[in-house]
Amino acid sequence: MCGIVAYLGKNKAYPILIKGLKRLEYRGYDSAGVAILNGQLNIYKKRGKVQELENFVHTKNKSGSIGIGHTRWATHGKPNDTNAHPHVSSSGRFTLVHNGIIENYAVIKEALEKLGHVFTSDTDTEVLVNLIEEIHTSEQLPVEEAVRIALTKVVGAYAIVVLDAENPNKLVAARQSSPLVVGIGADGFYVASDGTPIVEYTKKVVYLKDEEIVTLHRNGEICIKSIDNEVQSLFIQELEMELEALEKGGYESFMLKEIHEQTKSITACMRGRLNLEELTIHLGGVQELLPKFMEAERLIIIGCGTSWHAGLIGEYLIEDLVRIPVEVEYASEFRYRNPILTEKDIVIAISQSGETADTLAALKLAKEKGATTFGIVNVVGSSIARFTDAGCYIHAGPEIGVASTKAFTGQVTLLSMLSLLLAKERKTISEAYYKSLILSLAEIPKKVEIVLKNTAPIKDIANQIMNASNALYLGRGYNFPVALEGALKLKEISYIHAEGYPAAEMKHGPIALIDENMPLIVIATNRSAYEKVTSNVQEVKARKGIVIAIVLQGDEEISELADYAIEIPETEEPLTPLLASIPLQLLSYHIANLRGCNVDQPRNLAKSVTVE
Ligand code: AGP
Repeated sequence: MCGIVAYLGKNKAYPILIKGLKRLEYRGYDSAGVAILNGQLNIYKKRGKVQELENFVHTKNKSGSIGIGHTRWATHGKPNDTNAHPHVSSSGRFTLVHNGIIENYAVIKEALEKLGHVFTSDTDTEVLVNLIEEIHTSEQLPVEEAVRIALTKVVGAYAIVVLDAENPNKLVAARQSSPLVVGIGADGFYVASDGTPIVEYTKKVVYLKDEEIVTLHRNGEICIKSIDNEVQSLFIQELEMELEALEKGGYESFMLKEIHEQTKSITACMRGRLNLEELTIHLGGVQELLPKFMEAERLIIIGCGTSWHAGLIGEYLIEDLVRIPVEVEYASEFRYRNPILTEKDIVIAISQSGETADTLAALKLAKEKGATTFGIVNVVGSSIARFTDAGCYIHAGPEIGVASTKAFTGQVTLLSMLSLLLAKERKTISEAYYKSLILSLAEIPKKVEIVLKNTAPIKDIANQIMNASNALYLGRGYNFPVALEGALKLKEISYIHAEGYPAAEMKHGPIALIDENMPLIVIATNRSAYEKVTSNVQEVKARKGIVIAIVLQGDEEISELADYAIEIPETEEPLTPLLASIPLQLLSYHIANLRGCNVDQPRNLAKSVTVE
């Protein structure tokens, strides 16, 4: 979902911009462009990959120490050179890059056309840059003031950076519901959609808040104002990111690297929180709200995509172990269905990026209705993390691959710890079971390592089913959401249609789909429902379906029945999703690879869906 990079300082801007845009590719885009000022304003923008832009600019004038860059994920106007950013005002003086959507752009465009502004693109962004010019010219204001006033007139989400061709020593940036980070370096200022283009130059950052406008001067001055023209204090933070996390580290893709990082990322999620000596779990964010959690009559979990699947596992964990009613909602549905909420409700938002527009909007609705809000987020300093009353980071590290893997297991690890902490506090499970679960949770990273070492059978299975047109994923209990997640992984990176179902649902319709061309991936790691899953597998085999079973080590019956079996180590049933989901990640990965798909940047997808 779009990416912004900008630079003002002592060094050449172009290398910083183009490298920064490459760091933002994982966010998803379909065109890219840069604008660099060095006496004259040079703008280069093209549909396609950043590499194509780089090839196009290779022989052109790219000198200058101030510039802005953008990767565009098309919303208004199809992907083409004209609609790519940066966009310029009619006079050519102001240039702007923009993430987000200006919802009232049509009305503003009509008014500006009457004033003589000419538009060349179909974008809302070009309307905004001309609105800024109109205000600047008609009221003779400095660019930062024209930007501020223009933003009081727009409705929607934006992260913008504005370049004034007559002010080569100044950049103006602003945000509303779309993230923007300012890096304060020894050699100048960096502005970007997240920390990835900034981290190699500086770790001193300011996370712009909603309705803030920042003016950056070449002499090192930085001034932040609210949209109401109130000067804001400067809160400089340390960027919690390491450069090597942004490299592939020898892996062929970020997704494969991140799948194999799960031993480390799950360990990081538990570090300082799970204490084996004392058999305790400490979650700062939960501690802050413990009285609320103790008296809660209902927890509502909201999220999208993979995060919603993690939320479903959270429902099974919390209701099974903590005995608090849980509802899991798609954030996009929750925000529009006028839900009933009270002050006693706790709304838990799960989000890797912490920037998903639907999840953020659903949270805002929850807060308006008086509920307490709690975040389970990966990206430190993200909008959801800063908006919620309290929360916990999953500490999975940057997840660059669009398909979520280590963030998913991090979310489930966090939910497992939260459930155990609350179950102990509310005394809803026996001491013995609590002890067994916490010891089993501590063993999970070692068992993940075992799963990750057993990839050979998975590659072979991928070869066998890579040309399937459809696939079904079946699971029961804790592993029903794992079936949904496995199906999503396959869909989003290999483009094979896949559906996840509760295994018992087969006979209510989907079994009609079974034939010798239909692979069924059955997660059969539930001791409590083993016989039932066995009969599900028999039903499928009786109709010639191809069965790939995820089984516990040493399993015989289902392994015998299935065409292929992938073993995972034994663990307590509530923790099996942490292990069962990994072979499904790898299966999708290898199938997508064999099909020649771009696993890190699947078509049409963005890493962070910051627009509706
Ligand atoms: C999962 O592989 C997808 N990338 C997508 O479903 C993602 O989980 C969803 O967009 C939610 O993103 P978030 O966790 O950053 O809020």
